[in-house]
Amino acid sequence: MLSFFSLSSLQNPSLRSPLLLMATKTLTVIPANPEEDLDDRLCSDLAQQDQEQQQRLSSGGGGLGGEGHAERAWAHWRKLGSPKMVVAPMVDNSELPFRMLCRKYGAAAAYTPMLHSRIFSENAKYRSQEFTTCKEDRPLFVQFCANDPDVLLEAAKMVENHCDYVDINLGCPQRIARRGNYGAFLMDNLPLIKSLVEKLALNLNVPVSCKIRIFPNIQDTITYARMLEEAGCSLLAVHGRTRDEKDGKKFRADWNAIKTVKDAVRIPVLANGNIRHVSDVYSCLEETGVEGVLSAETLLENPALFAGFRTPEWVGDNEHSNKEGGLDQADLVVEYLKLCEKYPVPWRMIRSHVHKMLGDWFKLHPTVREDLNKQSKLTFEFLHDIVKRLRDLGAGIPLYLENTQAAALANGYDQS
Ligand SMILES: Cc1cc2nc3c(=O)[nH]c(=O)nc-3n(C[C@H](O)[C@H](O)[C@H](O)COP(=O)(O)O)c2cc1C
Repeated sequence: MLSFFSLSSLQNPSLRSPLLLMATKTLTVIPANPEEDLDDRLCSDLAQQDQEQQQRLSSGGGGLGGEGHAERAWAHWRKLGSPKMVVAPMVDNSELPFRMLCRKYGAAAAYTPMLHSRIFSENAKYRSQEFTTCKEDRPLFVQFCANDPDVLLEAAKMVENHCDYVDINLGCPQRIARRGNYGAFLMDNLPLIKSLVEKLALNLNVPVSCKIRIFPNIQDTITYARMLEEAGCSLLAVHGRTRDEKDGKKFRADWNAIKTVKDAVRIPVLANGNIRHVSDVYSCLEETGVEGVLSAETLLENPALFAGFRTPEWVGDNEHSNKEGGLDQADLVVEYLKLCEKYPVPWRMIRSHVHKMLGDWFKLHPTVREDLNKQSKLTFEFLHDIVKRLRDLGAGIPLYLENTQAAALANGYDQS
């Protein structure tokens, strides 16, 4: 009997403890309470996971992709609270402080940026800079790109105690992915993809998920999704664009294709593409029947999207059914900066978020943007001053809420 939980690490303790303990100690896990002893926490986490693993192994179940597998995949999803609104993986952009900001405003789960499995497994500096988390940062998907099952497993083992899924990036269409032979370019080598999923499914304590793109032909997409499920994948996130449809603004995601995948597999499915405001979330859930949605680009501009806040662009004809929500993107930048002080990340990520959240404000006052661009070394003081200057110049673009939500807020509805 096999499952997404490791047999080998249970049977051979030498495979488990040294690697795990060595690996987890090299990660930057930011404790909620710094006084808490990390070693104690890790040891009790391990003991609890062993106990859970024993229970799972003795409770029966099918092979890698059998009926038992689907049941366990659903049980895991439900245990996490069946999160519907999820922050998509974004290189340099879905880092800890941004995830925490989105979680405050309605995101029920989040992905890390894609991490390179080989570099992650070899380089402690890369690990500590590119992967940070904290107790409140759950449910969490940690995403890797990979093309070697052993290397992927080594990297995944280092994070398995700090996440709810280890995710494989099978969707990146960029040139760098072609050169590195990962992401969507593995769609040309399905046996390799199968071996990556199987390796994780057989050896990890947490389930494996995959983020995929669709093939131009729907039958190929179905065969692909079923192969992933059979290989032990416990959750599929389907980006409804093909590998060649790189520009999200030019090509609409195909929700019909996502629905077809949802109907073809037995594991939970998330949809990705065309989520620009909260009404899109509900339309997508209804049209595709999926369990939840991911959003990427729009969340960068408006991290409060999942709480119902809209930029003026998405108020459109419905102007009378929307009200100013008492929150704007500058407020969100200030909150984000505070989170960055608490959970430090490289300045390049902070710079990128400030540009994206304040992009429309900078259009009104380009000189302030130029000053930001000229500043090669950033400080929090400088960035707070940028926000203050925009406000003093009278820039102020509100975020809107539908009237019903605005009324709920006024009556004390708690966003958090
Ligand atoms: C800045 C940025 C970085 C991204 N990085 C990743 C990544 O690391 N892994 C991944 O699977 N997809 C990545 N994507 C793709 C998104 O996760 C998502 O699939 C895509 O943007 C479509 O969703 P959207 O229409 O909501 O933007 C990235 C997208 C953006 C905008």
